[in-house]
Amino acid sequence: MQLTGKHVVVTGGAGGIGEALCEAFAAAGAARIVVADLDGEGTERVAKAVGGVAAPLNVRDPEALTAMVERAESDGGPIDLFCSNAGIGIHGGPEVDDDGWQAIWEVNLMSHVWLARVLVPRMLARGGGYLLNTASAAGLLAQIGSAPYSVTKHAAVAFAEWLAITYGAKGLKVSILCPQAVRTAMTAGTEDGGVAGVDGMMEPDEVARSVVQGLADERLWILPHPEVEAYVRRRAEDPDRWIAGMQRLQARYEGG
Ligand SMILES: NC(=O)c1ccc[n+]([C@@H]2O[C@H](COP(=O)([O-])OP(=O)(O)OC[C@H]3O[C@@H](n4cnc5c(N)ncnc54)[C@H](O)[C@@H]3O)[C@@H](O)[C@H]2O)c1
Repeated sequence: MQLTGKHVVVTGGAGGIGEALCEAFAAAGAARIVVADLDGEGTERVAKAVGGVAAPLNVRDPEALTAMVERAESDGGPIDLFCSNAGIGIHGGPEVDDDGWQAIWEVNLMSHVWLARVLVPRMLARGGGYLLNTASAAGLLAQIGSAPYSVTKHAAVAFAEWLAITYGAKGLKVSILCPQAVRTAMTAGTEDGGVAGVDGMMEPDEVARSVVQGLADERLWILPHPEVEAYVRRRAEDPDRWIAGMQRLQARYEGG
């Protein structure tokens, strides 16, 4: 997909990777960019910077998501590209309480499902459309230190792939963004990206450049950190060896 003249929505657009996506899409000639985020002030700031539209939104609220899509399309015409990019992280494992699991489940996965429920039928009715869903390298591999993040990002990859399989022949295009560590609020306080930063910390604008290229190439997986492809291959070729390697990384992480 080329972005020139396109109507685009970016959730989580008020900061980090989402903000960089809005900037890169504007530079690539997108005609209308809707900046959707929980952070209302941030949506105004980014929308102003990219000549877009601010849309305060909690992606955990399916009715609000539906209303935002309806509003964007009635004001600006069909959405060509919807980026479900809002995401959160929570440290821990089974001890994370149910409210924590529910929150990350809704933001990292269910918002993608609710968005697809309203927008995919509209896109199919007009012959197609494009979804970019932000998962993570953790969605293809694992996140040391966070079961909820690993699980919800795997689920996000699975859901996006299912959409591509099911509706690809009907014109739906899907890309899944899977970076390792990126310098944003999410990784703030870990100068080196923490354990996800073993291959270095990437700047959000580099990720956004990789997304613009990935969309142009219509790639299913957009992997800004090229190492991820080799890790995925190694995991598939020899899961026992991969787990042993991850256990060594876990030991390093526990050792600080
Ligand atoms: N930073 C990284 O290292 C990294 C690596 C891989 C994947 N990711 C993913 O990239 C995406 C963007 O993360 P980021 O690093 O830019 O983090 P960030 O915290 O800088 O930005 C996330 C944005 O999402 C918004 N948001 C959170 N909950 C929301 C909700 N309920 N409704 C609407 N907006 C909400 C926040 O207000 C924020 O502006 C996330 O899905 C994240 O999981 C990040």
